Amino acid sequence: MILLDGNKLSAVIRKEIGHRVIDFCGKEIRPPHLAAVLIGDNPASQAYVRNKIKACEEVGFASTLIKKPETTTQEELLDIVRGLNEDPKLDGYIVQLPLPRHIKEEEITLAIDPAKDVDGFHPNNFGRMALGMPSFLPATPMGIMIMLDRYQIPTDGKHCVVLGRSNIVGTPIALLMSKKSKPGNATVTIAHSRTQNLSEITRSAQIIIAALGIPHFLKEDMVSPGTCIIDVGINKIEDTSHAKGYRLVGDVDFEKVKYKCSAITPVPGGVGPMTITALLENTWRAFREKK
Ligand code: GUN
Repeated sequence: MILLDGNKLSAVIRKEIGHRVIDFCGKEIRPPHLAAVLIGDNPASQAYVRNKIKACEEVGFASTLIKKPETTTQEELLDIVRGLNEDPKLDGYIVQLPLPRHIKEEEITLAIDPAKDVDGFHPNNFGRMALGMPSFLPATPMGIMIMLDRYQIPTDGKHCVVLGRSNIVGTPIALLMSKKSKPGNATVTIAHSRTQNLSEITRSAQIIIAALGIPHFLKEDMVSPGTCIIDVGINKIEDTSHAKGYRLVGDVDFEKVKYKCSAITPVPGGVGPMTITALLENTWRAFREKK
């Protein structure tokens, strides 16, 4: 079994990005600059944004964190977004999701300048991705594609089952895996909460991408020997043996499933760091395309 180590691979790629920054930027040219907007105090979102900012420092990017309270209004957030769109010293930015319930996420996404939308969430980018045109790819699916590529996991002609149909992961990764590309060219099934005979479907897969947000959902008996498993889930479960009283687990019952598969991502340390690395790649690209 190959452990698809997102930490190790990210370190390699981030070093490459860091070298690009050193080679390209200097006295005359400022480094790439990413901003992150964080509304409220969702602990998971805070941790994700902190890691994104830290990753910027690691590769020599400039970063700005815009942190606003839970009570921020739709109009105030739209003003922030408009300001970021206009800022010439900024190459890309993200608005961390989920947003508080009183904020209309769709309106915010539509207000983001597609040229700075390094999350690839704007319909311009999502549509271009679906059509196979150059675009910013959403960071998690892009991170998975980079991982499959670098680990040379065969995808051509394979049956790939995606568990989950979110706009951020399930739907875009299904599109990318079915594209005429490498990695890609897979025969893709999207399974979701209404899917019948799920175990039969997952057992017929050679690749499973689990993105449902249910801890330990994918069990040993749902997987055929030799399957490659990508676990996107990051779930907190109570564990009194840990100092914090909880630990992070994926959507896959890792300890049991790992003996059956050909390759698997751990949680934490699998897809998570790759998502941030993909965001850095998108920011680099936004920066270069402006030059
Ligand atoms: N929330 C969970 N994943 C993401 C992501 O990739 N980008 C943003 N902006 N919010 C998220």
